[in-house]
Amino acid sequence: EWAEKGAAKIMKEIKNKETGELEKKIVSRGIKDFKFGHEIGDGSFSRVLLARSVHDNNEKYAIKILSKSYLVKQNKVKYVNVEKMALQRLSNLDTVVKMFFTFQDQNSLYFVLEYAPNGDFLSIMKEYGSLSEECTKYYSAQIIDAINDLHVSGIIHRDIKPENILLDQHKRIKLTDFGTANILEKNETKGNYDLLTRSKSFVGTAEYVSPELLNDSYTDYKCDIWAFGCILFQMIAGKPPFKAANEYLTFQKVQKIQYAFTAGFPAVIRDLVKRLLIKQPEQRLEIVDIKSHLFYKDISFSTIWKETPPPIK
Ligand code: ADE
Repeated sequence: EWAEKGAAKIMKEIKNKETGELEKKIVSRGIKDFKFGHEIGDGSFSRVLLARSVHDNNEKYAIKILSKSYLVKQNKVKYVNVEKMALQRLSNLDTVVKMFFTFQDQNSLYFVLEYAPNGDFLSIMKEYGSLSEECTKYYSAQIIDAINDLHVSGIIHRDIKPENILLDQHKRIKLTDFGTANILEKNETKGNYDLLTRSKSFVGTAEYVSPELLNDSYTDYKCDIWAFGCILFQMIAGKPPFKAANEYLTFQKVQKIQYAFTAGFPAVIRDLVKRLLIKQPEQRLEIVDIKSHLFYKDISFSTIWKETPPPIK
């Protein structure tokens, strides 16, 4: 049932004490190689703990821990494998939380992840209510660029929401939580991924779920663009566009595209949101068109990852 049992075998560069040269060595890594700290996140079937390596200068990691028996009982093993495969494919990206390696013991699976020390966007939205136009521009530009990275790699996230957007040490965003992702296979003749693949799906998070999923139970890459539209709205309005007392009522609002801009909502962002929160997925803006929208006219998508972010406010 569980592949590669036990500790992880990883390649490390270790200084030879006599010659001073770096040598590649295979070392074993497991629970004894970390000191565990407090909980920094939780999911429906996992917990994330801060951990320090007992090697490499006490380096901090975020370790996601999943209970094997719970996964089996809840029939969620598939999600763990999906997350691992997605993170392996995305490991070259700076816009995604890196997975360094995984290991397991008798009871649990462990994903050793990059630690993002500045919290998640949900906490930011809770703390600040809404964001300034400048912050909204900078952070939404990073979010759409990161979503583009996923799509180019053939991964549809399907549960993009503020909670899954973390801030790294430079306060730049990193996407996380790929358990419900859709991993596309390469179209061997064209050499890229067919993003139009439609996939039968589960429901992500009520406030960010796209109408096609509710109406026709399918999603393609456009569901991530819908969720982006919801988050963009939320950054200015301080609340997601489709929100009601319970999930059922929220779904009804999504299906009817029933939302209202708050007073003072800037016209240029209103225009962009209107082109994203569209019922027909094929009529929603494509990422290239989002990036060239007037709202981003003074944003350079190649330098936003290098410059200092505007202060959050
Ligand atoms: N919460 C969940 N995953 C995390 C991570 N990689 N870094 C910081 N906080 C997290």
